[in-house]
Amino acid sequence: MPTVPVSVSASNVSASKVKADILVVAKTHNGAVLAELDKTVVKELTGALDAIDFAGKAGSSVRVAAPKGVSAKSVAVIGVGEVEKLEDDLEKLRQHVGSFTRGLDAEVSVAFALPTPTAEVAAAITLGAVLGAYRYNDYVSEKKKTASEITVITAKKFKDAVEEARIIASGVTGARDLVNQPPLDLYPETFANRVSELSKGRKVKATVYDAKYLEENGYGGLHGVGRGSARGPRLVKLEYSPKKAEKHLALVGKGITFDSGGLSLKPAQSMEEMKSDMGGAAAAAHTLFAVADLGLNVKVTAWLCLAENMPDGNAQRPSDVVTILGGKTVEITNTDAEGRLVLADGLVSAQKDNPDLVIDIATLTGAQIVALGKRTTGVMGTEAARDNVCEAAHAAGEQMWPMPFPEEIRDQFRSATADLKNSGTREGGMLAAGIFLKEFIEEGTEWAHIDIAGPSFTTSPWGYTPEGGTGVPVRTLIEVARGLSK
Ligand code: BES
Ligand code: MN
Ligand code: ZN
Repeated sequence: MPTVPVSVSASNVSASKVKADILVVAKTHNGAVLAELDKTVVKELTGALDAIDFAGKAGSSVRVAAPKGVSAKSVAVIGVGEVEKLEDDLEKLRQHVGSFTRGLDAEVSVAFALPTPTAEVAAAITLGAVLGAYRYNDYVSEKKKTASEITVITAKKFKDAVEEARIIASGVTGARDLVNQPPLDLYPETFANRVSELSKGRKVKATVYDAKYLEENGYGGLHGVGRGSARGPRLVKLEYSPKKAEKHLALVGKGITFDSGGLSLKPAQSMEEMKSDMGGAAAAAHTLFAVADLGLNVKVTAWLCLAENMPDGNAQRPSDVVTILGGKTVEITNTDAEGRLVLADGLVSAQKDNPDLVIDIATLTGAQIVALGKRTTGVMGTEAARDNVCEAAHAAGEQMWPMPFPEEIRDQFRSATADLKNSGTREGGMLAAGIFLKEFIEEGTEWAHIDIAGPSFTTSPWGYTPEGGTGVPVRTLIEVARGLSK
C-alpha cells in the first residue's frame, strides 16, 4: 500500500502551541506573512525572511528555525504568489500547498497555520497537502518518505470541511494507486478482485461478470478486445444506492489494464505509459467509493470495462466484425482503437437502468493530447451534460474544456461490411472517438464523454501531482454527484 499521511485532521488549538515538526505559514510575493500567529511572532518571522531574501514567489518555500513563542520545531513558509487573499484562487492555493508536501523527504508531522477564513480555504489546504504528500511505494526497496501527520489548524465549525476534503483526497489517491500498479499484477481479474474488496465495509455492491459470461451474453466489444490476452476480460458493476436517492448517475470507465495496440501493435515508445489505460475505470470506481464515504444522497453505478489489449494467436484481427451488446456490428479496422469497443458494451449496459446522467471516462485518444495538451481534459456529449461536467470541473479545480461534435465526422465510420467501423481518419481524432461512442447512446439519454488520455498520467511532477497516475477526474465526478444529490 502506498504511503499517504497516516493521520489527517483538523484542530482548533492555537498555532503557536501546536507540537509539530513543521508549522506551515504563507507569504505573498513581496508581501505579507499570512499566519494565525501573534503580531510579534509574525514580525520576527518577517525579519528572518527578509534577512535571507525570501520573497514568497509562487511555488517556492523555505524552512527556518521556530521563532520564540512557537512550540513547533520549525516553521516552513510557502510562497503563494501575487494574491491578496488566499480565498481568491483556491486551486492555486491547493497547488502551492501540494508543492510543499510533495517536496518533503522525511516522516514529519506538519501543521498548517495559514488563515482559513472560509470552509473552502480549510478544505483546499487539506486537499493540496494530502495529494502532494502521496508516494507510490509498493515496488521500491527504499520507501520514499512523506508527512506522517497532517493537521489543519482551523475553526471548529470547519472540521467537517476538512474531513470531506480528506475523503475526496482518498478518492484521488485510490485512483492513482490503481494506475501506478504494473500491469503484470493489475489485470482484469485482479482489478475486479481489488474493487470487490474495496466495496466491503462500504454500502457498495459489486458484481463481476467474467470472460465466459461476456462471451456468451453478447458483450462483443469486451470479448473481442480481451481475446488476445491470456488473461480474460471482466465487466464490473458497482452500485451505491442510498434509499432516499432521487437521482441516478452512471459512470462507465475504460479499463484497459495494458494497451499494446493488439495486432495493430503500437511502437515501443507509445507503449511505455499504457499501464495507465485503465485510468477511467480507476476514477469511476474511486469516485463511487468516495461518494459512498461522503454519504451523498444520490445513486451511483460504476461500470468498469476491463480488458488487456494483447496481440496473441487468438487476438481479433483488422477486418473482423464484432457485435456490441444490443446488436450493432462493428468492423475492426484498427485493433488499437479498442477503448471505444469496450466502452460501447459498457454504455449499452449502463443505459438499461435508465440513469438520469451517463458519464464515460476514458484514456481514449492520443488526439486529445494533440488538441489540449497533457493537463486539460476534453469533454463532449449532449450539450447540457457536457457543460454540467465542465462547470463541476471548474468548481473542483480540475482543467477541462468543452469540445464539439461536428456532424460531418460521422461519415468516416461508414463500413462496407458492418454497421460501422472502429477507426477513421486522423483529423479531429478526439471528437471522432466521441462520435463513435455516440452511436451507442439512446435518444434522450443525458451523456458526457470525458477524454483523459493526457491528464490521467504524468512524467513531470508539478503542484500536488507527483509522477505517475494523477487521479484525474475523480474530483470533478464527485462534484457532479454532489450536484445531483439532495
Ligand atoms: N489508449 C490509447 C490512447 C492514448 C494515447 C492514451 C496516448 C494515453 C496516451 C488508445 O487506445 C489508442 O490507441 N487510440 C488510438 C486511436 C486510433 C487508432 C484511432 C490513437 O489515439 O492513436
Ligand atoms: Mn489503443
Ligand atoms: Zn487504449
